[in-house]
Amino acid sequence: MQQSITFPSGQVSYLFQSQFEELWNTYDKQHTIIVTNEHIAKLYGHLFKGLKMLVLPPMESSKDLTTIGSLAKQLVQMEATRQTLLVGVGGGVITDITGFLASVYMRGVSFGFVPTTLLGMVDAAIGGKNGVNLGMNKNMLGTITQPQFILFDTRFLNSLPDDEMSNGFAEIIKYACIFDAEMFDELSKHNISFYRDEDDSALNDLIAKCVAWKNKTVIEDEKEKGLRKLLNFGHTAAHAIENLYELPHGKAVGIGMVIAAMISVQVAGLDKDVTEKLKTLLGQYHLPVKIKISASKAIEILKMDKKRHDDLIDYIVLEKIGKAAIHTLPLTVIENALTVYESNNSAV
Ligand SMILES: NC(=O)c1ccc[n+]([C@@H]2O[C@H](COP(=O)([O-])OP(=O)(O)OC[C@H]3O[C@@H](n4cnc5c(N)ncnc54)[C@H](O)[C@@H]3O)[C@@H](O)[C@H]2O)c1
Ligand SMILES: [Zn+2]
Repeated sequence: MQQSITFPSGQVSYLFQSQFEELWNTYDKQHTIIVTNEHIAKLYGHLFKGLKMLVLPPMESSKDLTTIGSLAKQLVQMEATRQTLLVGVGGGVITDITGFLASVYMRGVSFGFVPTTLLGMVDAAIGGKNGVNLGMNKNMLGTITQPQFILFDTRFLNSLPDDEMSNGFAEIIKYACIFDAEMFDELSKHNISFYRDEDDSALNDLIAKCVAWKNKTVIEDEKEKGLRKLLNFGHTAAHAIENLYELPHGKAVGIGMVIAAMISVQVAGLDKDVTEKLKTLLGQYHLPVKIKISASKAIEILKMDKKRHDDLIDYIVLEKIGKAAIHTLPLTVIENALTVYESNNSAV
């Protein structure tokens, strides 16, 4: 299934439920350079036969300017021109690097993505944001440039470790919470192995729905002035605890969503049962809902959040499942919720 969407910054073809090899019906192998990592190059070498490749080490620390400089030099050596198409095949690290490299090489060459992680398929590859880290500052340098295409081939997920599947489901559960009560119910009836091993078309539908939700926010708010901020649901507290406890992003987002739900009960009239329902759902997708945290340390980090102004912070709350809003809250509200979370889970 192919779908084309026009954004303020360009048009993107979404090749849903597709196979990697189908790219060559449209694009010329001669002008293509694959950007991927060692892990994927090894697992899927048969797909890349005869293609020019740039292969990176498989780690977040490769997402920096040194890598961009070295890849750009390799592109020059490979005589890449404005006609070159860069195709990023990998998780968010690879697609972020590819999008940024393609946006700046010769002031911009065409690029496309083949996300190979669930998180990539529902989040990182979608929306046109790309970039690299600058030291400790994540995604500090980047552009908003849309790829020409994004191809979804769920066969790649067969080799994805369970933990990485859970990371992707954390973002899927996030979309369900903020936009889609029906999706929340559907997710409640299933689990990771249903989607990955039993029903590929259900997985493809789920991916297409998440892409549609993300695209809707991006089309209406490409520069993140309003609606797109809703996508940060669960992410404010997540960022604080992710750094403090070196948690994988999805796990931190799961806990961040629990804390955001607790706050929503208090300030946005969210039904108390929703917090319990959310915890159950997260558990079904192997996302922890209880970890030992230090509320005071988390607050110190929150105080550095760019969404904070004076003692207030823009926080995404749920009014009900499927409906989110931005509230400007005193930091003390977040502090109290973190303290309650800490004392509820101190014996974990
Ligand atoms: N641009 C955006 O809008 C956006 C949004 C969200 C996240 N991100 C970025 O995305 C990155 C995280 O992405 P991610 O979660 O995909 O992580 P990742 O790219 O680090 O991939 C996770 C791990 O899975 C491995 N892997 C990838 N595909 C595989 C496969 N099919 N089989 C086996 N192993 C595979 C990778 O080698 C890596 O070890 C972060 O850098 C984050 O900043 C960007
Ligand atoms: Zn996230």
